[in-house]
Amino acid sequence: MNDDLFKKLTVLGAGTMGQGIAHVCAAAGMQTVLYDVDLSTVDRGLERIRASLDKGVSLGKVTEEDREATLGRITRSSDLALAVEGTPFVIEAAPESMELKQRLFRMVEQRVGEDTILATNTSSISISQLSTGMEFPARFLGMHFFNPVHIMDLVEIVWGEHTAESTRDLALEFTRLIGKEPIVVRDSPGFASSRLGIILGLEAIRMVEAGVAEPADIDKAMVLGYRHPMGPLRLTDLVGLDVRLGIAEYLQKELNSDSFQPPELLKRMVSEGKLGKKTGQGFYRWEVE
Ligand code: CAA
Repeated sequence: MNDDLFKKLTVLGAGTMGQGIAHVCAAAGMQTVLYDVDLSTVDRGLERIRASLDKGVSLGKVTEEDREATLGRITRSSDLALAVEGTPFVIEAAPESMELKQRLFRMVEQRVGEDTILATNTSSISISQLSTGMEFPARFLGMHFFNPVHIMDLVEIVWGEHTAESTRDLALEFTRLIGKEPIVVRDSPGFASSRLGIILGLEAIRMVEAGVAEPADIDKAMVLGYRHPMGPLRLTDLVGLDVRLGIAEYLQKELNSDSFQPPELLKRMVSEGKLGKKTGQGFYRWEVE
């Protein structure tokens, strides 16, 4: 086993999920390289990590020393070869495209040792299909984190057809080390969380479409009636309508089920650029950060 395992890692992608994953790994004491195609994206990710740490300090959850130490463990990179050089662990958090992820891992495989663990944070794409064409698919698996990563406890460990048991066990150990709670899920479209979560979101959108109730009241039904921390429409705004549409289309195709058919309203809002919090308009209005 690589001596540096659990001491350092590389996170590919500095968007919402990538920066959150880098944040929790660095906070757990790991030297963390945060990579994206351009440094301005990495810097935006770092600003968000700093903002979360500042909030943690103001809430009394993080000390000022820990904030500085966490930030000090993160190295920025826009050079993929340098970012993964000598790394024992890679977590990929690039956009949800099979082709993009496969291309990224093909490049990574050419640059890392055989015992480097490769994980993808995909929320729905098949791990076995993603590993098609990989040289060593036994060291590849899914590690699905939840947003906001520094608060949410769960990591879904997704075990593909070719994933070795030793890879799965190392990922379980890693997950606990960074203070998260793992569940183990067999590779199947949408895993456990997205398959269930998306159904609630799509049905809530169909209810808005049919005029059953206003978005805020549909959300309230779940918050006050079922004690969900947040309603399905507000959550859709946070996750991004485009992200949820992509997952729904993928699951409809893969599971061959009408339950996942994207509502026309969702498609229309995405085509109009109403993507939720990130664009300032979804089922709610948001201040653009
Ligand atoms: N640093 C450290 N701790 C922090 C913090 C920070 N920056 N910000 C908040 N916290 C702590 C708080 O102190 C609090 O801790 P205690 O419970 O010990 O008091 C806890 O985190 C919750 O914080 P808040 O009370 O401020 O948060 P809230 O009650 O407003 O809830 C929320 C915020 C956790 C996001 C909640 O709204 C929630 O659970 N929403 C649903 C989130 C969800 O479903 N995410 C999954 C999305 S789907 C996904 O991610 C998968 C995918 O593939 C797309």
